[in-house]
Amino acid sequence: MTQGVAGELERLRASARERIESATDQKALEGLRVSLLGKKGELTTILRQLGGLPAADRAAAGAEANQLKDEIFQWITDRMGGLEAKRHTALGDTEWVDLTFVPNPVRRGHLHPLTLILREVKAIFSRLGYEVALGPQVEDEFHNFEALNIPQDHPARDTMDSFYVEADDLLLRTHTSPVQIRFMQSHKPPIRIIAPGAVYRRDATDPSHGSQFYQVEGLVVDHDIRLSDLKGTIEYFARSLFGPERRIRIVGDHFPFTEPSIGAAVSCGICGGIGCRSCKGGWLEILGAGMVHPQVLRNGGIDPERYSGFAFGAGLDRLAMLKYNVTDLRLFLENDVRFLRQF
Ligand code: DAH
Repeated sequence: MTQGVAGELERLRASARERIESATDQKALEGLRVSLLGKKGELTTILRQLGGLPAADRAAAGAEANQLKDEIFQWITDRMGGLEAKRHTALGDTEWVDLTFVPNPVRRGHLHPLTLILREVKAIFSRLGYEVALGPQVEDEFHNFEALNIPQDHPARDTMDSFYVEADDLLLRTHTSPVQIRFMQSHKPPIRIIAPGAVYRRDATDPSHGSQFYQVEGLVVDHDIRLSDLKGTIEYFARSLFGPERRIRIVGDHFPFTEPSIGAAVSCGICGGIGCRSCKGGWLEILGAGMVHPQVLRNGGIDPERYSGFAFGAGLDRLAMLKYNVTDLRLFLENDVRFLRQF
């Protein structure tokens, strides 16, 4: 019997060692611990037999079994440590991260082309001592029309089909010119302002028209302001914005709020002024302008006997189109990044 238990312990020792060494993961090892040392484990089963042994043998066999228990426990612990170390090494191969890797490079946004143009226009005129003035986008008919010599039945109203607001007499301004009136009413000469902003017209949308676009107005009022001052200003402005090689052409025009009225064009940057598909004749219109009509000065509270002035109005979108060679106004409002990215 003693022989029997001792033999079983010996066999268990050999097989336990062998199984522990060949366990390939921690889960298998934990299973082994249960089946070797657990309540119904192999060693426990052997220990149960000790009760049937003579007292003298029982002590020796018990000591032997306890030692084996310690050994098995130690082997499992060692193997566990070995597997853990191996797992860590393997993790280095399978789960490493490259901390320098940039997954989706973040593209930096930038200013919209219309903002870029506006900033440039502001910079040019601030060098000439102009300040920026703003007016409301919902205007009354007096400032938008009447004060600018456009009475109720004037044909110029037809060229500015308007969006009227339900309240009487209010509309979305059709141009930035009403800011001239508002500024004169609230300031004394000398006046030197530009007034940029959104304007609205009930126009069908096409490559060069939209129901909302941007203008920049200019107004200068002082003693002895002349047409030559206006001409010099336009030349300085156009050359600053489009480059020194551009030529400027001034032609007669008509606006109810200026007398005389002129239109200004720059030589086409693509063909140099010979005439090509995008300029049709070598020149590109950039703005309307003129000497402020005496009645408009009076409507602004300024005495035309003492002061004179000039005014101009340019389409900001149009300036951007000319500067960046954009052929369709709608691109500015569509927010297509493939377009915007180019600026
Ligand atoms: N307000 C005019 C328009 O929207 C543009 C304009 C022309 C403004 C001549 C001016 C000017 O100040 O003098 O068509």
